Amino acid sequence: MMSRGEIADALQGLLRCSVERDRPLSGLSTLGVGGWAECYAEPTELEDFLVLRRFSHREGLPFHVVGGGSNVVFADGPIPGIVVSTRRWNAVRWLPREDRVVADVQAGHALASLVAASAKRGLTGLEFALGIPGTVGGAVVGNAGAGGRGVGDSLEEVLSAEPDGTLRRWRTGEFSCSYRRCSLSEPGRLLLSCKIVLGLAPRGEIEENMERFRSARRIQPHGGRSAGCSFKNPDGESAGRLLDRCGCKGMAVGDAVVSDSHANFILNRGRATGGDVLSLLRACRRRVFERTGVLLEPEVRFLGWLYAWDGEPAANMGNEMDEGNETARRV
Ligand code: EPU
Repeated sequence: MMSRGEIADALQGLLRCSVERDRPLSGLSTLGVGGWAECYAEPTELEDFLVLRRFSHREGLPFHVVGGGSNVVFADGPIPGIVVSTRRWNAVRWLPREDRVVADVQAGHALASLVAASAKRGLTGLEFALGIPGTVGGAVVGNAGAGGRGVGDSLEEVLSAEPDGTLRRWRTGEFSCSYRRCSLSEPGRLLLSCKIVLGLAPRGEIEENMERFRSARRIQPHGGRSAGCSFKNPDGESAGRLLDRCGCKGMAVGDAVVSDSHANFILNRGRATGGDVLSLLRACRRRVFERTGVLLEPEVRFLGWLYAWDGEPAANMGNEMDEGNETARRV
């Protein structure tokens, strides 16, 4: 097994971007919790992503991808292996096609920027994503959405780095998306870019659509540090409403607290740790199960843990852009 110094040195010789050792991660998540990556890189070139993926595959190292950090709970302490951020891989090209426009977007592009730029260009299809934080890559992996719509609805093509470091293009029909799920979200796969098909519409109509989605988010907490909705909605029900009815608002572990305005949001009110957030998620889930019999499934993803959920491997819990989430640490 290579030491982290040897890993960083070996990688540095292969990459154009720099490799950082012991990179603190909390600043890369909207929740603001977590430890540090033993080996961290922010590639700006395709080849660097492929080299990183290939290297970790060959050396048997855990491989994690971080997008916008808006749906992830990092583990506390050192996170072994390689953490790759897509945030500097963020170009977008607008390709006209008959009565449509295709946005060819790299994974690290902020979803909010894409929504704003689309509206400005008179393009419709992404209004529902207004107010959703994070990157386009993360949005695809988790099929981010609102009001019954998701990024997957307009997705035409996805380019990925496969676990062995080869490049693969997925076309319509070769993948599928459903509520908060994309079939391409597999351990070890890194989504690099995608094509999103947008229609043309009058500005007024786009604005109206956006206003509708804006008002749907009014009860969500604004401004605090959170990772968005903690749990997926079970069939036909709102997780937030269930958590609220079970009296979860205000529950806290350390500095992690359930929001008073929307019970499906956990806020970091100061110095919360990843462990605090995880314990609070478990306590909420247990309470809802005991009182209603509904077992909520987390929507947030867990990066760097050995066992995150009552001994279940964290990979069963879904994950942000962190493909190598197979190992999680029990807290
Ligand atoms: N409600 C309560 N108490 C609460 C929270 C909600 O009574 O603490 C009630 C609301 O008053 C409303 C109902 O539950 O009558 C549904 O709430 P809301 O409209 O907020 O929708 P949601 O199902 O909780 C979903 C998505 C959000 C998305 C909103 C708006 C999930 C898990 N959540 O929330 O997405 O922004 O709809 O479209 O699918 C996310 O995925 O991170 C996320 C925030």
